[in-house]
Formats: sequence, structure tokens, C-alpha cells
Amino acid sequence: MKLEQRYEGKAKKVYATENPHEYVVEYKDDATAFNGVKKAQIQGKGEINNAITAHLFPLLERAGIPTHFLEKLGDREQRVRAVEIIPVEVIVRNVAAGSFSKRLGIEEGTPLARPVVEYCYKSDALGDPLINTDTAVALGWAGEDELRRIRELALNIRDFLVPYFAERGIRLIDFKLEFGRTHDGTVVLADEISPDTCRFWDAQTNEKMDKDRFRRDLGGVEDAYAEMLRRVTAPAEG
Ligand SMILES: Nc1ncnc2c1ncn2[C@@H]1O[C@H](COP(=O)(O)OP(=O)(O)O)[C@@H](O)[C@H]1O
Ligand SMILES: [Mg+2]
Repeated sequence: MKLEQRYEGKAKKVYATENPHEYVVEYKDDATAFNGVKKAQIQGKGEINNAITAHLFPLLERAGIPTHFLEKLGDREQRVRAVEIIPVEVIVRNVAAGSFSKRLGIEEGTPLARPVVEYCYKSDALGDPLINTDTAVALGWAGEDELRRIRELALNIRDFLVPYFAERGIRLIDFKLEFGRTHDGTVVLADEISPDTCRFWDAQTNEKMDKDRFRRDLGGVEDAYAEMLRRVTAPAEG
């Protein structure tokens, strides 16, 4: 099934398969923060992020979002559609946190009057700098139509995920998406949706249940990831 390795990133490895239009993604326990400066292992993360992504992507498909996901193969592996990743990270924010709070001097936890979509150039070497869509078009990273579609999909994903998590006792503060082009040029959601790529706060206590526990040395990292898997796969509350 798995042939040669195509990419290794900070959290996953991507392998070719016999089918040129399909890859196998393997999720690792490796965790990095601050542009790779801080590195560690989070025990069980690979399995948990694989399981959370493999749970959410089919739900998004059913909600009309095209994704790269095909099938969960094992604890750490999933089969996906091979895409050309568009080097624009898409961040959707519901509540001020992280770099948004820092950049603008807005206290973390301040609700936003409407969702905010931000774009960053996917470049480890440059630290994923903030860009706008003109930059992405001018530098040939994506077409205008693609960027319009990406924004529409990102907001539709938000509209699905916010109530999905709310029904499971979680506030979705913000999240990062990656999109890619399939061989026929269709734009699909790729990569992952997990505690590595989202901010999740407990709805009762506002406790952080995501990678910020690792970034900020809050402890209880493994427990938070395990609890997020439990909530994501749980039926809706009351
Ligand atoms: N369906 C796909 N086809 C091709 N590449 C993909 C697909 N899904 C994710 N990727 C890419 O796989 C690489 C490995 O993922 P990851 O370890 O998260 O990388 P990174 O260190 O860039 O965050 C990333 O470059 C990501 O964009
Ligand atoms: Mg990644």
C-alpha cells in the first residue's frame, strides 16, 4: 500500500501509493511550536489527531465541503487524495487569541463581531508571515477564483464546526486550514483538523484543550488531546 515517502513535515509523513492520485498520511507524535524552536513528543498525539481528522472530514463532506480524506487505514494512517498544497494557510477566527491578540493588542477571549479570515504564506523559513489575497495572486500561489472558493469553504467549515463543538462542550476559538488542488484542479480541504491546528476552550471553564497547553507549558497536554478525541466522537449533548 505505502510506497516511497514524498514529504515529511513537523507532524506527518506523506507516502506515495500505487495510485498516483492517492497518498497515505502517517500522523506522528512529534510536536513543534514557535516555528520549530520548541520540539517534543506528545504521547498518543498521532493516533488522536488521525482519529479526530478521520471523524470530522467525512462529516464535512456530508455538509458539502470537498476534502482530501478517503479512508482511515489504521491507528496512525489515513488514505487521502493527493493534492498540490496551495501555500496559503487559512486561519478562521471567532474569538481573539494567539497572534491576532498580540498583533492588535486585543485581549485573548474577546469575541469578534463576525468571523475573520486571515491568510499566511506557508513557509517555515519565514515563519508563516501574514499576507493578503492580492499577495497570493500576485506571486502566483493561487488564482482569484480559487481564493474566493477557499474563503467560502473556510466560512462554511466554520459554520459546521462551531455548533458541532458547542454541542460537545467546546468553544472553537480559531482554526487553521490548508487547501489543495486535485489532479483535475478541484480545490479541496486537505491536511488535518485537530488540537494541533485549532484552539479549543472548554465551554464551562474556558480551559485550553489544544496545542496551547504545549506552547505555553500549561501541563496536561496528553490528557487534553485525549479528552478532545472523546468529545469529538461523542454524541451531541442535550
Ligand atoms: N492530500 C495531501 N496531498 C499532499 N500533501 C499534503 C496533503 N495533505 C497534507 N499535505 C502536506 O503534508 C505535509 C506534512 O504535514 P505536516 O507534518 O503537518 O507539515 P508541516 O510541518 O508543514 O505542518 C505538509 O506540507 C502538508 O501541507
Ligand atoms: Mg502541519
